[in-house]
Formats: sequence, structure tokens, C-alpha cells
Amino acid sequence: MSNPIIEKIDAALIDAEQRLSAAASEAEIEQVRVDIFGRKGLFPALSKEMKNVAPEQRKDTGMAFNVAKPKFQKLLDDANDRLNAGSAEVSGEEIDLTLPGRRWKVGRKHPVTKVIDDCVAVFRRMGFIVASGPELETVYNNFDALNTPKNHPSRDPGDTFYFADGRLLRTQTSPVQIRVMESQEPPVRIVAPGRCFRRDTPDATHSMNFHQIEGLYIDENVSLSDLKSVLRSFAHEMFGASVEVRLRPHFFPFTEPSVEYDFSCIMCEGKGCPVCKNSGWLEIAGAGMVDPNVLKNVGYDPEKWSGFAFGMGVERLAMLRYRISDIRWLYENDVRFLEQF
Ligand code: DAH
Repeated sequence: MSNPIIEKIDAALIDAEQRLSAAASEAEIEQVRVDIFGRKGLFPALSKEMKNVAPEQRKDTGMAFNVAKPKFQKLLDDANDRLNAGSAEVSGEEIDLTLPGRRWKVGRKHPVTKVIDDCVAVFRRMGFIVASGPELETVYNNFDALNTPKNHPSRDPGDTFYFADGRLLRTQTSPVQIRVMESQEPPVRIVAPGRCFRRDTPDATHSMNFHQIEGLYIDENVSLSDLKSVLRSFAHEMFGASVEVRLRPHFFPFTEPSVEYDFSCIMCEGKGCPVCKNSGWLEIAGAGMVDPNVLKNVGYDPEKWSGFAFGMGVERLAMLRYRISDIRWLYENDVRFLEQF
């Protein structure tokens, strides 16, 4: 049975194809579009005729109707593409293949990451392996197991970020010592770089989040001179063979004896300058011999095993190495700053 609507659609498709393949201007293409989709065009007219279609033909007709729409649209799109491609050639706007392409900017490592990578490389050459722990820690790992008294000021909620469940954002990388010792027997020789958090007011030398590198060495007969030689080798590798290391007595709950260690000033070679406040020395970090209480807490026998630990601030090293005067530069993600490294 013939179907007048389908016949009209087929005829219109043939007509549109002919007109569009001959079209030489946008106006001609537009006219075809109006004749088909416009308010007085083919489709609105056919819609009206639909109600005259015999019920048994409605389904096929509706389908033909729906399939035809994208066919017309494709004919129009192709015609437009053909015209646009042609116009570039006709007007002489050929694509100049000799023009340089747009360069992708290659990213680079953040100075903090670079310092961590370099420190880790130095310690790996000395036989240390990398360990890690979570930034969200237990009070036990961050304080208790590290022999920190209940009334120690660093536990104060004004200094440390606590969660409702009692856990905290680790204030130091030292809890990684506990995790490692609890999970293995001695000997231990690890470094643990990572992010730490303290409730400090940001200024040129303080940031609420910063990075440390922890070191831990446990074996038989380890002494403070082993610590000093490891730190001296580290100083030489990072800042050059002329750097001296000195240890000053200090206190940390998890080491006994505890020291702070300084490098001779890398700016003035120890002569005295504004960076070292004329002292000739730069404070680098804390260290010491692991307190027997810490060894007991993890189930190591302090009569058999001894060791040293150290922890240092990565930002401080980065600032010394790259002569950065304000720690906040490291966290602002300003490309003009970051692309200098
Ligand atoms: N965790 C200490 C801090 O954040 C640094 C430190 C000192 C780490 C002595 C150690 C250590 O491992 O033995 O101030």
C-alpha cells in the first residue's frame, strides 16, 4: 500500500541532496534548511498530515519521520563543511604547516619533592630503606609509644589537630619509627619522609603542614659516633664536602641522650652572615640515641639492641638549598615561583 508521507519524505531527501551538492553559498544551504525544518517547511506540514494516515500505517510513518530528520541534518552539515573547507582554500587561508606548534609546558618536581628525593637517595646509598606511615595517626604512635609524658605541651589541642575519634594529624614523622619496629625484628635501618601537621600560625618560617624526614637505625653496639658520621656524610652529599656537623645537647622524650645538630653555614662557610645570624652554624634538626623506654614499648630488648634516630625539616633544607626566604612560597602554587626549580 502506498504511503504518501513516506513518498514525500523520500522525494524531499533526493531533492535536498541535489540542491545541497550544487549549493555554492551559505544562503543556498540555509534555504534548504528552511524548506525542510522551517515553520512553513516540510516537517511541520507532514506533522499535520499525520492525522490523516490510516491507523495501520501510523507506526511505519512515524518511524520514517524520525529516521529522516537526522538524514536531512547530515546533508546540511556536510554541505556546510564542504563550503567551509573550500572557502579557506579559495581565500588563500591555507593551513601553514611550517608554523611552530603550541608547546606543552613540561611540569617539574616541586622543590620539596626534589629535596626529599635527593635526601632519600643519599640515605639509600648508606643502606637505609624507605618506610612510610599514615598522616592520620593514633595518639599512641605519635606520643605515648614515643615516651612523651601526658603533660607534654606538644599534646595540647592548641598545638595538635585532633579528630573526634581521638586520632590526630601526626605532628612529626617519628611515629613511623613505632610502626616499623612493631612490624619487624631488629636490625632496622629506615628513613621515612612525609607530611606533618601542627597548629602553628603561618609566617615566614612556619606552616601548618610541612615535611620531615625521619631516620632510625637499630642494631647491636650502635653509638652516638655512628649517628654523627651518618649525619656528616649526609651533610657532605647534600651541601658539599666542606660542611661541618656539630651536635648540641637537647631534650626529646624519645631519645636519651638527645641532641640538636647543626651544619656549618653553607652561605658563608662558617664565617658568619645574616642567614646564620653570625653564628656560623645552621640548625638542621633533632636526633639522639633511642630511649630504652621506646625500645621496650615495641618489644625490643634494650639490653641487646641500641640505635639512633633523627628527624629533620624538609622545608628548612629546601629553603637553605634554594635560598628561599619565606616558607609560604612553597605552598602557593605560583607557577612563576615553581618554574625556577
Ligand atoms: N620529631 C622531632 C620533632 O619533630 C624531631 C626528632 C628529634 C626526631 C629527635 C627524631 C629524634 O627521630 O631522634 O621535633
